[in-house]
Amino acid sequence: MLHYEPKDLSVPEVHKLLLGGVAPRPIALVSTISKDGINNLSPFSFFNAFGANPPVVAFSPSRRGRDASLKDTYNNLIATKECVIQSVTHSMVEQVSLASAEFPPEYDEFIKSGLTPIDSDIVKPKRVKESPFQMECKVLEVKSFGDGGASANIAICEILKFHVAEDLFTDGIIDPVKIDLVARMSGDFYSRAKEGVLIVEKPIGKKCIGYDQIPLHIRQSEIYSANDLGKFGNSESIPSDKEVKDFIAKISEEKIDNFEEGVEEFLGYQRLADHKKMLKSALMIRENQKKNIEFAVKVALQNNDTDFAWRAALYAELL
Ligand SMILES: Cc1cc2nc3c(=O)[nH]c(=O)nc-3n(C[C@H](O)[C@H](O)[C@H](O)COP(=O)(O)O)c2cc1C
Repeated sequence: MLHYEPKDLSVPEVHKLLLGGVAPRPIALVSTISKDGINNLSPFSFFNAFGANPPVVAFSPSRRGRDASLKDTYNNLIATKECVIQSVTHSMVEQVSLASAEFPPEYDEFIKSGLTPIDSDIVKPKRVKESPFQMECKVLEVKSFGDGGASANIAICEILKFHVAEDLFTDGIIDPVKIDLVARMSGDFYSRAKEGVLIVEKPIGKKCIGYDQIPLHIRQSEIYSANDLGKFGNSESIPSDKEVKDFIAKISEEKIDNFEEGVEEFLGYQRLADHKKMLKSALMIRENQKKNIEFAVKVALQNNDTDFAWRAALYAELL
């Protein structure tokens, strides 16, 4: 590991560490209006949501690194106490990047970026038509930390109205593939969220056994990854010996369509991620039986069949 105290680094070095390690960051595309009525639009990735009652979001239009001057967004927030924050989708990311260019305060960045302004219902700043998720906000507080270059000015905002495209939803939640958001990482790197979507079951509301209750032989296996063990720890109980034996007996006797035994076949089922056929053939192959069963367990966990995985993993230890 490398170890740093911020006081021993230059400000750009600290900034670079933050951009790389605190990532991917959601991007707030913030629309404000000056006291003279000029629209401003800029992206900010030091941004997140912090509560739902009342709904509160915050972002930081920091002082410019170059000369510690204040950004137009900050000045507008202080002057008018309103903004609209929109989420940034893949289809608009280049125009959003364009909106981050430093245009003088008298330039309207809607015009410069080519994004389309539409009226808001409650606040004066415009909404961005191209974004499918828009939040009209009032500024609750702006908290500043320092007055040097790149120092934070955290604008804490209450959401007064959400505007959400209706085709974003699947089963009542915003579908990450449909919304197709992008996030900011280090340097020029962005992340397209829908390309890395994965499902991690929530432990909330369940009485998980926890990592420490996973039998030692499972924890010490060379086959299971830390994430595999995390899934075991997320279970509510461990199957009994009888449940394990009944399960193995059932799998051994069961007739499965298109099943063939043999080492080659086992490897084929592994390629197809068919954990049931993998286990059935592993039970028939004497060589490397424990390892083969553990491979079937791993695939069962990847397929989110945790009950199957538990029973097979406990059986592997009996061998
Ligand atoms: C994706 C992205 C994220 C950004 N995040 C921030 C940020 O969190 N804070 C900040 O001060 N500047 C951030 N910037 C830079 C500002 O957008 C840029 O300084 C802009 O010119 C500010 O405009 P303004 O002076 O009109 O407010 C970001 C730029 C991009 C492209």
